[in-house]
Amino acid sequence: MSAETLLKVEGLGKSFGGVMAVSNVDFELKRGDFLGVIGPNGAGKTTLVNLITGFVKPSRGKVIFNGKDITGRKPYDIANMGVARTFQMVRLFHNMPAYKNLIIPLCSQRVRKLRGGKYGERDDVAIDLLDDMGFERTSNVPYKTAGSLPHGYLKRLDLARALALRPDLLILDELFSGMSMAEVAGVLPIIEKLNTQGLTTIMIEHRLRELFRVVDRVMVLNFGVKIAEGSPDQVMDSDEVKKAYLGVDVEIPRGKPA
Ligand SMILES: Nc1ncnc2c1ncn2[C@@H]1O[C@H](COP(=O)(O)OP(=O)(O)OP(=O)(O)O)[C@@H](O)[C@H]1O
Ligand SMILES: [Mg+2]
Repeated sequence: MSAETLLKVEGLGKSFGGVMAVSNVDFELKRGDFLGVIGPNGAGKTTLVNLITGFVKPSRGKVIFNGKDITGRKPYDIANMGVARTFQMVRLFHNMPAYKNLIIPLCSQRVRKLRGGKYGERDDVAIDLLDDMGFERTSNVPYKTAGSLPHGYLKRLDLARALALRPDLLILDELFSGMSMAEVAGVLPIIEKLNTQGLTTIMIEHRLRELFRVVDRVMVLNFGVKIAEGSPDQVMDSDEVKKAYLGVDVEIPRGKPA
């Protein structure tokens, strides 16, 4: 594994009863890579994220992160090593004020080590992060209970929660689902900028037009199997990918210009 490699997934597999949700998947990320992951519903995308982040234990295969074997480790440990994720179905503390949801990652072992600081300052850091996500600090929105916020805000809150961990690897599982066009237009440049500043990113997304504008590379899953990997144009030219999407109502855009 070269020094540049941040994540290496080898022969990763998970079966639920008889269903192979993820089957023998291999891929590698170098530091700073921006990988898109696509595939029809039920293709195994979320399961792949769960396997990498420790929410589901693999039936076979390995996950190596930053040179360490993290296969089967607990989500908390993997997060502390610098892997942050967002959830397709957001998991937040709905009864807490929105900004308080960021206090848990801000108090993590990882952030305490990286940033230090006093507990009182964490509220300010949380408000700053939310302000970046469009929760205006001068409004009462950051202080409202998370459960009272519209869906698009919850998705952005979940992103802020993931970023609060100061991750080395950020995994976004359908972040844009349920967001308005305006919200996507606000968030996409933030993610793009973080990636150009060196944050390695995996983005699972059904909104291919937006995805292809920012990623360098795309991996396609179908029935748990990796069926293609390459530039957006390369994968969308693959007959197997076209077949996988046959009958699915999806517009196939071109990738970002070279
Ligand atoms: N906890 C579970 N128990 C049993 N089966 C599961 C479980 N999680 C996922 N599966 C099955 O594994 C397969 C892959 O599901 P997964 O959620 O990973 O797909 P996905 O690509 O994320 O789909 P979507 O685009 O709809 O989010 C599906 O057949 C699903 O029903
Ligand atoms: Mg999913």
